[in-house]
Amino acid sequence: METLYVLGGKELHGDIDIVTAKNALLPILSCGLLTARVIVLHRVAMFTDVSYMIKILESLGCIVTLIGDDLVVDTVLADKYEVREEFTKKVRSSIFMLGPLLSRFRRAKVAYPGGCNIGNRPIDLHIKGLKSLNVKIEERHGYIYCDGSNMRSGDVHLDFPSVGATENIMMASVGLKGTTTIYNCAREPEIEDLQNFINACGGRVSGAGSSIISITGVENFHDVEYTAIPDRIVAGTYMIACAMCGGGIELKNCEKSHNLALIDKLKSCGLNIRSKKDRLYLSMKSKPKSISNIVTQPYPGFPTDLQSQILALQTISRGTSVIVENLYESRYKICNELIKMGANIRINDRMAIINGVPKLYGANVTATDLRGGAGLVLAGLTADGYTTIEDVYHIDRGYLSIEDDFCKLGAEIKRINK
Ligand code: EPZ
Repeated sequence: METLYVLGGKELHGDIDIVTAKNALLPILSCGLLTARVIVLHRVAMFTDVSYMIKILESLGCIVTLIGDDLVVDTVLADKYEVREEFTKKVRSSIFMLGPLLSRFRRAKVAYPGGCNIGNRPIDLHIKGLKSLNVKIEERHGYIYCDGSNMRSGDVHLDFPSVGATENIMMASVGLKGTTTIYNCAREPEIEDLQNFINACGGRVSGAGSSIISITGVENFHDVEYTAIPDRIVAGTYMIACAMCGGGIELKNCEKSHNLALIDKLKSCGLNIRSKKDRLYLSMKSKPKSISNIVTQPYPGFPTDLQSQILALQTISRGTSVIVENLYESRYKICNELIKMGANIRINDRMAIINGVPKLYGANVTATDLRGGAGLVLAGLTADGYTTIEDVYHIDRGYLSIEDDFCKLGAEIKRINK
C-alpha cells in the first residue's frame, strides 16, 4: 500500500498546469461508444477513474491507444452491450454507459456502479429519466437490464438536477428520431463540455449550462478530435492550498468562470486572486480569516467536490465557520482524521461547525474518499511536523500525482511504497 509523507510549514511558490477534467473525460469517453467512430482526445489526464472507463470500453470491443497524452478510442468494432460487475464496482461513472449502449444497440445490461463511499448514491433519477424515453427497465441480481427496442424521444423531467442522470439521458437521446427535452437538468460546466463534444461528432444538442437541454436525434456521426475543459476541482484544490500555506502560485490552463463560487469565498478569507486569459495568479500574505456561509449546492452554487478541501482551510482560519453539505450524507469522514491533527470540529447531521486553531500538528491519518484525501494533504502541508496519509489510492482517482504537483510548488511531500 502507498503512503504519502508530508512535512508541513512550507509556503507555496511556482506554477501548475491544470489537467483536463476527470468529470468531463468520463462521460465523453462513454459517449464515444455511441458514435461508432474514432475519437481522439487530447491532453488526457490518466486518472485511475479514466483507466477504469477505458477498461470498460475495451470490454465492449473498443480499441483504445494512448499516444503521449492523446487517447485514440476506436469504437467502430464495439459489439457488446453488457458491462460486468468487475468493471462497474470500481467507478460510479460506469452508470453513464446506459445511455450510449441504448443509443447504439437499443439494449444494455450494466451492473450497479461503485465509486466514492460518500453516501448512498442512488440511480433512481437515471432509471426514471430513461423510462421517460420508453426504455423498459428491470433491476435484478445486481444488474440493470434495459430494452430500448421501442425507445422514443420526448420530455424528461428530473426531480433533482443530477449530473449523471442529465448526461445519461443526453447520450440516450442523441440517436432518437425527433427532439428530447430535459427539464431541471444539471448546469455543471462538464455538461456543457459533453454537449460540445456531441456536437463536434455531428450531434445536435443545445441549452447545456441552463436548466433545459434540447437534443435532436441524428443518424450518423463522424470521427472527431477533442480537448476536454480544465479540471475545476483540481484547480480549486490548489487555490485553497495557497490560502492555507501562504506564498504565491500561478495556475495555467485554468477557466476562472468555472470557479466563481469558490473564488468569492476565498477572497473573503484574504486570498489575493488576479486572472489573465487562462491564467490565475494567487497570493496569500496573512493568516486566513474564517469564511461564513459555505453551503454546497448544484452548480453554480458552491461545489460539494471542494467541501473537504475548504473544510481543511477552515480548521486553521481565524474564527468560527459553518459548512452545510447538501449533496451527500457521508462527506464528513475527513473530520475524524482532521481532529487527530488537532482540528476543532463538531458535526451535527449535514452541518460542520469549525473553530479555527492556530496550528494543526502532524499525525498518521487515512484517506477515506477522493476529495477527503485531498483535504488531508492540504492539512498536512500546513501542520507542524510530519503527517502520513494512508490509502492514497483514493486520491489518485482524481489527481494525477498530487505529490509531484505540490513538490513543484516547494512543498516537502513524497510517496512511499510500504
Ligand atoms: C457527479 O456525480 C460527479 N462525478 C461527482 O464528483 C459530484 O460530486 C456530483 O456529480 C455532484 O456535483 C462525476 O461526474 C463522475 P449527481 P453524480 O447525480 O453524477 C442524488 C468527484 O469527487 N442522486 O449530480 O453521481 C445523489 O445522491 C465526484 O469527482 C439521486 O438521488 O452526482 C446526490 O445527493 C464525487 N438519484 C445528488 O443527487 C440519482 O439517480 C447529486 O448526484 C442520482 C443522484
